[in-house]
Amino acid sequence: MSSEKKRYVPKNQAPKSAAESRPVDTRFRTEDVTNTKGNEWEDYFLKRDLLMGIFDKGFDKPSPVQEESIPVILAGQSVIARAKNGTGKTAAFVIPILEKCDTTISNIQSVVLVPTRELALQTSSVIKELGKYLNIECMVSTGGTPLREDIYRFYKPVHILVGTPGRILDLASKEVADLSKAHVLVMDEADKLLSQDFQPILEQLIEYFPNDRQILMYSATFPIHVKDFSGKYLPNAHMINLMDELTLKGLTQYYAFVQEKKKVHCLNTLFSKLQINQAIIFCNSTLRVELLAKKITEIGYSCFFIHSKMQQLDRNRVFHDFRNGGCRCLVSSDLTTRGIDIQTVNVVINFDFPKNSETYLHRIGRSGRFGHLGLAINFITDDDKENMFMIERELDTEIQPVPQVIDKSLYT
Ligand SMILES: *[C@@H]1O[C@H](CO)[C@@H](O)[C@H](O)[C@H]1NC(C)=O
Repeated sequence: MSSEKKRYVPKNQAPKSAAESRPVDTRFRTEDVTNTKGNEWEDYFLKRDLLMGIFDKGFDKPSPVQEESIPVILAGQSVIARAKNGTGKTAAFVIPILEKCDTTISNIQSVVLVPTRELALQTSSVIKELGKYLNIECMVSTGGTPLREDIYRFYKPVHILVGTPGRILDLASKEVADLSKAHVLVMDEADKLLSQDFQPILEQLIEYFPNDRQILMYSATFPIHVKDFSGKYLPNAHMINLMDELTLKGLTQYYAFVQEKKKVHCLNTLFSKLQINQAIIFCNSTLRVELLAKKITEIGYSCFFIHSKMQQLDRNRVFHDFRNGGCRCLVSSDLTTRGIDIQTVNVVINFDFPKNSETYLHRIGRSGRFGHLGLAINFITDDDKENMFMIERELDTEIQPVPQVIDKSLYT
């Protein structure tokens, strides 16, 4: 953790721009969207036709991740950026790659790697919209569609290729896609791109790019395999970090040894003993989330639940209602959102203990800015013991046995 802190540029502390006082609904905007340096699009000396595309899309001013990324990418540097979705991240790399693209030559000049077809289509539509006055040819190529169609498509020029690593490696190794002039490689959602199955594919794929390639890596989290990869392939990259570090400061962490079949009983006891303002309870699967939510209702408490198989819209609604105090208790699976930035949550319970320290930190950790008091209680079965020791070690923290009486001043 501490090495990570040193490696990233600290959060930009510039004063807020006038953006916040504009008459738009900013209630749900967080600082990573509003805390800009006050740059204007004109500051980057972009091509006129690109500027027109940007304004047509209704982008008023660059967002923080765009302000941090665009000048550095235009200057030719590789970038490692830590940024969430919904902060203008896609346009942060799309705008400079469009600016760099020379349509008088027909080679592939940029490749954007994404983990899924859905994201490939989304990204290419941003490229097409922003580049609509530029005559840029953008092609999407992902697994799950016939390779033959993609091969035909290469009879016409392709300037920007967007796709999943396996398919693009396929095209490169069959000499269908010539990447020797592709000077920019974007890796979006790098934490997913570099998951175990993909990593060897990426290492092979990179060999098809020219030596002076520029790599732009965007990711919400930086697990160890992403750090290893970036250390090897982008040692001199410019670091951008627009997310607060998660911290365990202010939290008291306890564990309770409990048999699987006693977990609900144990939870019930905690409910009756603790001064819960709001609590989040984590389970390890969507099915267990639903089952537990049902159990909790049966023992007479009301609760919401949220899990990764629900529609994004429903998830947003549940989260929003919970945040507004609609319920004291939320049962959750591991979602892609990180950290609990709900200040009224004073108790987190790991009904199922997580398998690694990354997940533990995402469930329990808080943004450094707030660092207020809280209680974390971990249910530990025999199978979890080793994991708990490992997580304590990796996060350099201490999880203590839960005492008979928990001092209220620790979390209220
Ligand atoms: C979740 O936890 C239960 C109970 O500890 C266990 O039986 C199950 O295998 C776990 N599932 C996963 C996916 O880890």
